[in-house]
Amino acid sequence: MQIIDGKKVAAEIKAEIALEVDCIKSSGGKIPHLAAILVGHDPPSETYVAGKVRACEEIGFKSTLVRFDNDISEETLINAVHNLNKDADIDGFIVQLPLPGHISEQNVIESIDPAKDVDGFHPVNIGRMVLGMPSFISATPAGIIELIRRYEIPTAGKACLVIGRSNIVGRPLSNLLSLKGYPGNATVTLAHSKTSNIPELALKSDIIIAALGSPGFITGEMVKEGAVIIDVGITRVKSDLTRSGYKLTGDVKFDEVAPKCSYITPVPGGVGPMTIVSLLRNTLLASKQRISG
Ligand code: GUN
Repeated sequence: MQIIDGKKVAAEIKAEIALEVDCIKSSGGKIPHLAAILVGHDPPSETYVAGKVRACEEIGFKSTLVRFDNDISEETLINAVHNLNKDADIDGFIVQLPLPGHISEQNVIESIDPAKDVDGFHPVNIGRMVLGMPSFISATPAGIIELIRRYEIPTAGKACLVIGRSNIVGRPLSNLLSLKGYPGNATVTLAHSKTSNIPELALKSDIIIAALGSPGFITGEMVKEGAVIIDVGITRVKSDLTRSGYKLTGDVKFDEVAPKCSYITPVPGGVGPMTIVSLLRNTLLASKQRISG
């Protein structure tokens, strides 16, 4: 059994990007610039955005944080998006979700220029991804695909079960793994809250990607010998063992499942660290594409 070390791979990718940024700087090129719009003070969103800004600083990108109060109107927010669309110095930007209930996330996402949509949430990018065309792929699926690639995990002809059909994880991942090429060519089943036989499907699967946000959902008896397990769950559960009183818990019962697997991602330190580097990679790509026109 091999543990997929997302922390190590993410550090390698960051170093690779930092090297590219150094080359850009020394040749007098434009430094990649990522902006983030944050509405309100939702604590997890504050943490995520702070992590994104910190990562930009570490690798030498420029970053800009645009903050608004919770009571901002949808129109004002969409105007701010249009301003970033027009801003020649910004290569890519994100609008941190969730947004307050009075704002349509879909309207806001659709107002982002697809060429700057480094989150890969715009329907144009999702459509291009489904067709196997070059596109921005959202951070978590892109991070998982990169882990599979770097660990050279075979996917062709494998039975792959993706559990969870969210627009930002399960749905794109199920598409990516069924595309032609590598990592892809898998036979994918997308399970969700209305699927009645998940344990049965899981037991037949070569690759299980658990992205349902239900701590410890995948047990040892649901997994066949030699399976590959990718755990996307990161639920904060109460714990007496940590100073904060919480610990991050995956969708997989790691101690039961790990001895049966060929590969497994731990939580924390598996998929999580890959998400920010995927955003950085998309920003670098956006910057290069803007330069080459
Ligand atoms: N909220 C949780 N994850 C994400 C993400 O990847 N991008 C944005 N914009 N918001 C999020």
